[in-house]
Amino acid sequence: MAMTLTTAIPAANAEKPIYLDQNIPIEKRVEDALSRMTLEEKVALCHAQGKFSSKGVERLGIPEIWMSDGPHGVRAEINWNDWGYSGWTNDSITAFPALTALAATWNPQLSALYGKSVGEEARYRKKDVLLGPGVNIYRTPLNGRNFEYMGEDPYLAGEMAVPYIQELQKNGVAACVKHFALNNQEKWRGTVDVELSDRALYEIYLPAFKKAVQDGGAWSIMGAYNQIWGQHCCHNERLLNDILRGEWGFDGAVITDWGGAHDTKEAALNGLDIEMGSFTNGLTSESEFGYDDYYLADPYLEMIKKGEVPESTVDEKARNVLRLIFRTAMNTNKPFGSKCTPEHYAAAKAIGDESVILLKNNGILPLDGSKYNSILVVGDNAVRRLTDGGGSSELKPKDYISPLSALQALYGDKVKFAPGYACGRTLYEAEDTIPQEEQDRLRAEAVAMAKDADIVIYVGGLNKNSWQDCESTDRREYELPFGQNELIKELIKVNPNIIIANISGNAYEMPWVNDVPAILHASYLGTMGGASIADVIAGNVNPSGKLPYSIPVKLRDCGANSFGEISYPGIESGDTDVVAIPGSVIEGGKNPKQKYMEDILVGYRWHDTKKIPALFPFGHGLSYTEFEYGKPVVSESVIGENGKIMIEVPVTNTGAKEGSEIVELYISDLKSSLPRPVKELKGFGKVRLAPGETKSVKFEITPEDLKFFDDKKHEWVVEPGKFKAHVAASSTDIRHTIPFEYK
Ligand code: BGC
Repeated sequence: MAMTLTTAIPAANAEKPIYLDQNIPIEKRVEDALSRMTLEEKVALCHAQGKFSSKGVERLGIPEIWMSDGPHGVRAEINWNDWGYSGWTNDSITAFPALTALAATWNPQLSALYGKSVGEEARYRKKDVLLGPGVNIYRTPLNGRNFEYMGEDPYLAGEMAVPYIQELQKNGVAACVKHFALNNQEKWRGTVDVELSDRALYEIYLPAFKKAVQDGGAWSIMGAYNQIWGQHCCHNERLLNDILRGEWGFDGAVITDWGGAHDTKEAALNGLDIEMGSFTNGLTSESEFGYDDYYLADPYLEMIKKGEVPESTVDEKARNVLRLIFRTAMNTNKPFGSKCTPEHYAAAKAIGDESVILLKNNGILPLDGSKYNSILVVGDNAVRRLTDGGGSSELKPKDYISPLSALQALYGDKVKFAPGYACGRTLYEAEDTIPQEEQDRLRAEAVAMAKDADIVIYVGGLNKNSWQDCESTDRREYELPFGQNELIKELIKVNPNIIIANISGNAYEMPWVNDVPAILHASYLGTMGGASIADVIAGNVNPSGKLPYSIPVKLRDCGANSFGEISYPGIESGDTDVVAIPGSVIEGGKNPKQKYMEDILVGYRWHDTKKIPALFPFGHGLSYTEFEYGKPVVSESVIGENGKIMIEVPVTNTGAKEGSEIVELYISDLKSSLPRPVKELKGFGKVRLAPGETKSVKFEITPEDLKFFDDKKHEWVVEPGKFKAHVAASSTDIRHTIPFEYK
């Protein structure tokens, strides 16, 4: 059929429309673009057009949006219409350390470097939105996705998220902070209905998101899969309308998690802007399950036309999406980016170096190679590419240095290797399907080799297989998988000279803790990971990471896991499985409901307040040198409404090696009308010191730091009375306590 053009042909010198003029304030441009759009064009902005992109306005030259996972590097290209990889040859990248490693550095400058570097890679790959960072709180060590988040403390997570976001966005790439909110477990993540107190919500689970939005200025946020108060997070009235937009003034776009939308009317009314990942089986024009069938596509258009939801809802969504497009895809001032540069590799290495945590050391570390003739490396993680698997954060790195190759580079052919255990051939193969004979054979081989070695370096831990550190499944047990505890015990019997250098995004049980001379705890460190671990072992890098989460002795010592199923993972009701996400394999469960019974006592707040010592406490991490904390200089002992207390702590490196120390500041409220944890982190600072050198770490305490959330008044309050500030090397290693008063 021949097409007739009914529109008048514009003059070549027609004036530039307002929305295209970068010099005009963004809100004016948004209104101008909106005024030119049809209803259909506005609706088209509100849903996916492919697995990772959503539409612009073709007629007006407003570009589409391209998104990518996130958060540890830019994911390889995914097919337009299914989850398969596209097989491009130009999409390999730098894999950066996992966010839990970033948190373990306690170094916001590295966070800025991370955001800058990953932002440059995203820009080079022509992405407009990077799906990260994740700031959900580490509530239980069973959560398969803790490695994508920044630990158990809201203050630490918030402080680390802000520079990442700010630097990332300087590349014209939006952060998409995820998963808002309470996606604190993967089991039943699509359906579980969470109930918790407003205190726990405001004091523990929201602050990092709030900082990401208000201080980081995040341009987008991703709704979580789960429900809160009986409503899905992606269109949760209280979460999105009242809190995010109302209380925090968010002006960016709310994007669903992939398949997180469930209802057109709720999505229309409750603050959702872009629906992604709902089940689709084909291109719009070819399939009955096309993108036009999304909740925020034709069904939404129809509801507007019938007057069932106001047209103003789509104007609001279109404004939010246009703002996102103007800030990213249509920002003509943005840089071009770069990828796999020496600078990015150096950034990944620096972050990895500072993230490795020395949990225990009797002096065997750093390892002086000249003392040993044979070094046996045992454990699958010494050779496994740990950027594979784990779910959506999976990466295709251009280069990958394994711990074994890095150790071989440092210690030469003294280094031998034995896997020691098998993990299953595919990422989704369950641990219990691996034949026992295979495990026995590998164990016997490693033990026999350990007998003849001078020293053993054990590089095991968890990996990115399902039911470990992996999206969409939680861990099944707190202990190390694949019979590693038995293996370690047998290795110790034949060779007590064994250094544990495990890789894991989570805490795990350590029944052998007293029988080994040294333990290193590393997360997934990406491209340069093996080099960071080997350099710490060799002492080329002095370890300076500290735990961003507690390591409980046993699972029941963790608050969330101490109340039985109602608290974790929730209790099912009804007879039939709910379909979590149509077309996906995610477990729905039978209407699972859950109550956060530990309330505000998450992580060290629980261990402290209930007097249940952790095996290794939050904030713990050793060095190859020693630090002495001098007497703090304190500016005031009384603080009023607008006052502040300045604290300066001189820290001296009293050892023989250059090193960095993280100084932590906790505050205790001695008496309050509502129960409070024994203490809470309110500051930290990291200093690098040459041997003999002293530097001061400065803290500022304001009334904001003394507040708790009064759920009856629905406000943050500070009550007059006595407080204490603790200057500490970990949540249990308090070096100085400073009493003060709020009047
Ligand atoms: C994950 C998100 C991810 C998205 C796109 C979802 O399954 O929960 O974190 O960004 O997929 O890959």
